[in-house]
Amino acid sequence: MLRVGRGKAFNKVLRVPGDKSISHRAVMLGAIADGTTRIENFLPGDDCHHTIECFQRLGVKIEREGATTLTVHGKGWKGLREPDQCLDVGNSGTTIRLLLGILAGSPFFSTVYGDASIARRPMARVVEPLRRMGARIDGRAGGRFAPLAVRGGELKGIEYHSPVASAQVKSCLLLAGLRAEGWTKVKEPHPSRDHTERMLKAFGAELSLGEGAVSVRGGQSLAGRHVRVPGDISSAAFLFAAALLVPGSRVTIRDVGINPTRTGILDVFRSMGAEVTVTPTDQWCGEPVGDVTVAGGPLRGVEVGGDLIPRLIDEIPVLAVVATQAEGRTVIRDAAELKVKESNRIATVAEELRKMGAQVDETSDGLIIEGPTSLQGALLDSHGDHRIGMAMAVAGLASEGEVRVKGAEAISVSFPNFAEILKELE
Ligand code: S3P
Repeated sequence: MLRVGRGKAFNKVLRVPGDKSISHRAVMLGAIADGTTRIENFLPGDDCHHTIECFQRLGVKIEREGATTLTVHGKGWKGLREPDQCLDVGNSGTTIRLLLGILAGSPFFSTVYGDASIARRPMARVVEPLRRMGARIDGRAGGRFAPLAVRGGELKGIEYHSPVASAQVKSCLLLAGLRAEGWTKVKEPHPSRDHTERMLKAFGAELSLGEGAVSVRGGQSLAGRHVRVPGDISSAAFLFAAALLVPGSRVTIRDVGINPTRTGILDVFRSMGAEVTVTPTDQWCGEPVGDVTVAGGPLRGVEVGGDLIPRLIDEIPVLAVVATQAEGRTVIRDAAELKVKESNRIATVAEELRKMGAQVDETSDGLIIEGPTSLQGALLDSHGDHRIGMAMAVAGLASEGEVRVKGAEAISVSFPNFAEILKELE
């Protein structure tokens, strides 16, 4: 049980663990590349550990030096072999969907499964286009849900217009496309995070980008390299929110990823009236990195939708918490994807915030929050979802009584030292 009491004004300079999306991709591309990939500032979270274990089961040698440094000894695609056990992705949607893209073109049989949340998440969004490429995939409900079984083999490139803006779908198909005959082109309705594209280029692949689409030619090989993982802006977002929820506070997060496909939350906090300063410092493996400072002030409600949504999709739970303290109405729309995350985040955010006395309405594709409301201490539930657990813990900093979060162990999926950092802010 995580307990959080009202915060006192703070002024802190902190770092957050490595980016989850980039950590997964570094292991995956390292595993199918030729040569050594050394990864620094790897996220030591449960999701990324599952990615490591899956690739070890596929025969890839991965050595760990402490919690955040590892070396992947890639031998190209031919270095992957048929696993003698099922591949367990735990709670990780990124692992299962990207892995399916790799397995679809690998000439052996494999099965993938995960926890109860993974078993509920839609897989047709990757299985259906992979089948169009020639993949043989079977699974529960005709392959719409995990567990899934893959009999890998030859693939052909396709042009695919994804109905959802999803980096997991796009990345799955690009990885399969690397092994397919001809070109694979993926088009999406709004731009999603582009870490796969950036890392593929850094590993020596040629991609063609333009008109909201990305294409990759099959038959290319990758070259292993050094990857330093930026801090995760999605984890930093909880600390930015903390600074906005505790009047008079300011926080600087150093060496955090500032890839423009991920910084939507900074744009929204700025339009709510927060002071946000971004100082770019470097590029790590094609990813922009910098220091970001957020300080509070009077906040006002905002409307968020359209192209912005994929740029802050994982930050919506904590944005909803901040919105309870803003003057006026906050409307979040075009975010139906929230229903198929680790939990149904439209329902879980509304349910938990209401327990604290917030005024929140669920809509078919988002949330409406009226503010400001004074939040009361309560017994809250993470619903087994790391970001719900962290959003509710942060809400405790602004509440009258203590907030207790059940199921807080889920937080180790993406931010293992979250509770320690939060303690410093109480
Ligand atoms: C991720 C993409 C997003 C995001 C998830 C990580 C990735 O999911 O919500 O936390 O690493 O590609 P979708 O692709 O389903 O939008």
